[in-house]
Amino acid sequence: MPTEELMQSAEQYVMGTYARQPISIVRGRGTKVYDLEGREYVDFVAGIAVNLLGHGHPDLVLAIQKQAAQLIHTSNLYYSEPQVKLAQVLVDHSFADQVFFCNSGAEANEAAIKLARRYSHGKYGAGRFEIITMKQSFHGRTMATLTATGQEKVQKGYEPLLPGFSHVTFNHLAELEQAVTEKTAAIMLEPIQGEGGVHVASGDYLKAVRNLCTARDILLIFDEVQTGMGRTGTLFAYEQLGVEPDIMTLAKGLGGGVPIGACLAAAPIAKAFGPGSHASTFGGNPLACAAALAVLRVLLDGRVLDQARRMGEYLSKGLSECKERHHGVRDIRGLGLLQGMEVEMDAKTVVAECLKRGLLINAAGDRVLRFVPPLIISQREIDRLLEVLSQIFDRHAAHPAH
Ligand SMILES: Cc1ncc(COP(=O)(O)O)c(C=O)c1O
Repeated sequence: MPTEELMQSAEQYVMGTYARQPISIVRGRGTKVYDLEGREYVDFVAGIAVNLLGHGHPDLVLAIQKQAAQLIHTSNLYYSEPQVKLAQVLVDHSFADQVFFCNSGAEANEAAIKLARRYSHGKYGAGRFEIITMKQSFHGRTMATLTATGQEKVQKGYEPLLPGFSHVTFNHLAELEQAVTEKTAAIMLEPIQGEGGVHVASGDYLKAVRNLCTARDILLIFDEVQTGMGRTGTLFAYEQLGVEPDIMTLAKGLGGGVPIGACLAAAPIAKAFGPGSHASTFGGNPLACAAALAVLRVLLDGRVLDQARRMGEYLSKGLSECKERHHGVRDIRGLGLLQGMEVEMDAKTVVAECLKRGLLINAAGDRVLRFVPPLIISQREIDRLLEVLSQIFDRHAAHPAH
C-alpha cells in the first residue's frame, strides 16, 4: 500500500494515540531501516531502545524461527524450558533471585507495584501501601503505572488516579526523606529518566536512597525498562551506579524486538507472590523467552557490551563537542548509548530534519533529542549523525525561522 494511502487508512482504522512520522518502514538490516520507497535510514531510535542487536541479527532470527517451529505458546499451567532458562540467566547476572514474566514495561512495573504492596501488606498490614516515585518519571500507561508516572500530561483526563502514590523531585534527597512516612512501602525510580528528558541519577543520591530504604525497611524499585539490557554499557545501569535495588523491571530491549517484560526481585520479596496472586496469559511464553535468551547470549558474550560502552563514550564526546560549537545546544546528558541533547529549537523540527537526511532520532519532550541506537552502532554512523546535527544547527542559526 502506498505510504500516502497507508497514512489515510491508519487515520481511519487505528485509534489516534500516536503522532507518527510520515514514512512506512518495511524492512531492517543491522543498524538501518528502509521505507516503502526504498529510502535508507540509520536507526538512532531502535524501536525506542528495543532493537539492541539491530535488525535481522542472525542469532535472534534463528532462535525465533526454531522456537516458532517447535512451540509458539503454552500456558503457565505447565512448565516451559525457555522460560526457566531465561529466568536463570537473569538471576545469574543480577542481584535478583526470582523473576515474573509479562509482556511490556508497563506490565513489569504493574507487577513491581503489586509485589511491593503485597510484601508490605503481609509484613506490616494493610496500612503500609504507599509508593513514592519521581517527578518527570515515566513508568507506563496502565492506571497504576500512569499514576506512578510523575508527568501530568500522561495522567490528564484519566482521573481519579489510584490512591497511594506521591512524587518528589529527582536527585533531591531532603525532599524524599521528608516524603517518607510509616505508610511508605516502596520508592520507585529510573536510574536514568528516559522519557522525562534523559536525566541521570547521581551515584551519591542513589546510595543515600538505598541507605534510607534499608534503614526504614522500604523496598527500592528500579525501573530499568529503558536502561537495562546493556543500553548504558553494562547489563543493568545499577551496576555502574553502585547500588542494588530490591525489585527491578525490564522490557524494551529484553526480547530484542519481541514483546516481553520482566519483574525481578530478591528472594524474601519474590516469595510474596504465590500461586494465583498474579498472572499473565502470554507472560514468559516460549517464543518471547527464546528470543530473550538469544539476546542475552549475544550480550553476555561481551563484545556487544564493549562496543556499546565504547560507542556510548564516542557519542557522548561527539555530542559535547557539538555543544561547544553550537550555541543552540544547552546540555548533553546520559550514559552509554542512552544520550540526550537539550536544544533551544523545537526538538520536533530537528527530528523532522534528520528524517529528511536519512536519520531516525527521537524527541523526549519539547527540547530534548534522544539517541538510543542499536548497541552495534558504528563510529562512522555516529559521525554521520554529528555532521547532520551540525548542519541543522548551522542552518537554524542562519535562518531561525526554518
Ligand atoms: C522507564 C520506562 N518504564 C516503563 C515504560 C513503559 O513500557 P511499555 O511501553 O513497554 O509499557 C517505558 C516506556 O517508554 C519506560 O521508558
